[in-house]
Formats: sequence, C-alpha cells, structure tokens
Amino acid sequence: MLAGTPSPNRILEIGCGFRASKVLLSAIELGVFTVLAEQSLDAAALMRQTGLHERGVRDFFDSLVALGFLRRSENGLYSNTPEADFYLDRGKPTYIGALFEQYSTIGYGLWNLLTQALQTGLPQIGVAAESHFAHTYADPARLRTFVKSMTAVSLRAAKSIAVQFPWRDYRTFIDIGTAEGCLPVEVAIAHPHLRGGGYDLPQLRDSFAAYIHERGLSDRLHFHSGNFFETTLPAADVVVLGNILHLWDLDTKRMLLGKAYDSVNEGGALIVYETLIPEDRRSNAVGMLASLNMLLWTAGGFDFSGTDCAGWMRGAGFREIRVESLAAEESMVIGKK
Ligand SMILES: C[S@@+](CC[C@H](N)C(=O)[O-])C[C@H]1O[C@@H](n2cnc3c(N)ncnc32)[C@H](O)[C@@H]1O
Repeated sequence: MLAGTPSPNRILEIGCGFRASKVLLSAIELGVFTVLAEQSLDAAALMRQTGLHERGVRDFFDSLVALGFLRRSENGLYSNTPEADFYLDRGKPTYIGALFEQYSTIGYGLWNLLTQALQTGLPQIGVAAESHFAHTYADPARLRTFVKSMTAVSLRAAKSIAVQFPWRDYRTFIDIGTAEGCLPVEVAIAHPHLRGGGYDLPQLRDSFAAYIHERGLSDRLHFHSGNFFETTLPAADVVVLGNILHLWDLDTKRMLLGKAYDSVNEGGALIVYETLIPEDRRSNAVGMLASLNMLLWTAGGFDFSGTDCAGWMRGAGFREIRVESLAAEESMVIGKK
C-alpha cells in the first residue's frame, strides 16, 4: 500500500462480517456446541451428529476454529472453547444461544431487507408488532425460543438491576412485559423481603409459571395477565419496563409511561431499561443498530437516548430522573413518583 493512503481493512472486515456472523449463527442453530459439550469429536463424527453434508464441513468447522469458537487438537479432534462451552451449549443454564437461533432463522434474513426498509420506512417482518407477538405465541416452539431469547438478552442487565437499584427502600414490584420472568427472578433472589411479579400477554402465563417454579419462587412472584393497550397496569412500589418502549412509536411510548405512572404507588419508582443510544450518537453503534432492527421488525418502534427517555418520563409526571449504566450494553433510567 502507498504510504499515506488509508487502509481498506476495516471496510473489508465489516463488509465481509456477515459471513463470520452466519457461520456462528448456523453453528448455534445446528447444535455444534451442544454436541461438543458431550465429547470431543473428529470431523466425520461431528458431521454425522449435526446432520451435515460432507462438502462444506471441513471449512465450516475450521472457520469456527479460526474464529475462536472451537479448538482442533493435533489428532483432529474438535472441542469447544471455554466461552462457547459456557454460553452456547443448550444443556447449560448459562445458554444464551436462543437469541441467536432466532437471529439465524429470522433476524438474519430480515436484515437482508434493510435497503427496502430504509427506502420505504416500512417494517419487513410481514406483520405489525402487535400481531407479531400473537403470531409468535401461536406456535409453542416459537414461543419457547422467544422467551428463552429474551432471558438470554436480559439476564446480565437483570442481575445488575438487582444489585444497583436500592430495593431495600421498597416492598413490591412488577415487571411489565416480563416474558418468562427473568428480571423478577433475579430481583427476588437478591432481595428476600420483596414480593412481586410479571405482567404480560396471557399466552406467557405457563412459561412464567414454569420458570418461577424451577427457581422455587412461586410463593413470592405472580403472573398478571393483560394487554397493556386495553388495561391499566398492576400497582406496585417499583414498576419496570424492560426493552418495551423501543418496540413502539412515540405516542405509544408516552401512553405506556402514563400508565406506568398511574400504577406506581406514591413514593415509588419506575425503572426503564434498554440499550440506550449514546447522547453524541457517534461513540457506539450498538444502540443505533438496535434501532434499525426496530425499523425492520415494527411499524413505529425506535431506540432512544437517556435524555429522550428522561424527557418523556418527566412529561408523564416522574421526578428525580437519573440514568445508570448496567452490565452489557444496557442502561436504566430511574424516575420517582
Ligand atoms: C422485547 S420483549 C421484552 C421482555 C423482557 N422485558 C426483557 O427485557 O427481556 C417484549 C415483551 O412485551 C410483551 N408484550 C408485547 N405486547 C404486549 C401487550 N400488548 N401487553 C402486554 N405485554 C406485551 C411481549 O409478550 C414480550 O414479553
């Protein structure tokens, strides 16, 4: 390269990044890491156990080695790296692959329609967000993948909220749009004095009950079924809205914050947690990419900054609003009533 000319490396890396991304997603979808969590295998045995054709397997498995998700020993046995074994083996409670199974089967193809979405402003999912949930929940396998992927996305943020928020000042809490109840479980485990639960569409009652039961919390956490377009929200000292607001347009965001205000007990608080967009909109692409994801999936959803959220919360009546970073890429915006 000529001295003084810029390097094309970043363009090549990001421009070709979809290949590496899909190799990882397909490996998760095919259960490669789950098979190898049992025992190390050579290429032929791994090919048989994952149901693959011989033509691509060598390059597929060795791509996973080069990308740092598998190891290959001198005698040709493949095994998981510690990171892949911990997070990508379906048999472990630390599995976060449900999210990526959904990306592999739906999200990846959807991003191929980004150009159309940018040109038209229209979602590319085929159904609006509201009916999207009904569609997802109509099939038990899709429902399960969805709730597990929500737990995978939110577990680290939920653990941080359990530690960072001053729960000792409150007695009750409710998580609105709780999915299977990831956040209520983490909060209840860390704070035995609290009682609470999750609110979600009726189709999630059984998933919530099973998740709470497995953790021995059925006496302290309860499911409240409802549609937040139609009902008021259950009352509690602390109300949580996690990864809910970004799904909807501004009027619906404001409507939900208004309902949340009504349901917080006097002296209580609201916690909104989301992947916030940085205020300068230049330092970290994750929030902007999450918002483009909303362009593809929803009719009017978009992600937002802490200042945006604080302004809407103030408009709903909340005061003493503050933003705190959580684990992973998420942050929480706290407001008091
Ligand atoms: C993106 S998920 C967030 C799940 C969880 N709070 C988290 O952070 O992982 C959105 C949740 O909102 C729920 N939801 C969507 N529309 C709803 C409605 N109209 N009424 C109540 N819950 C709804 C969905 O069922 C889903 O569990």
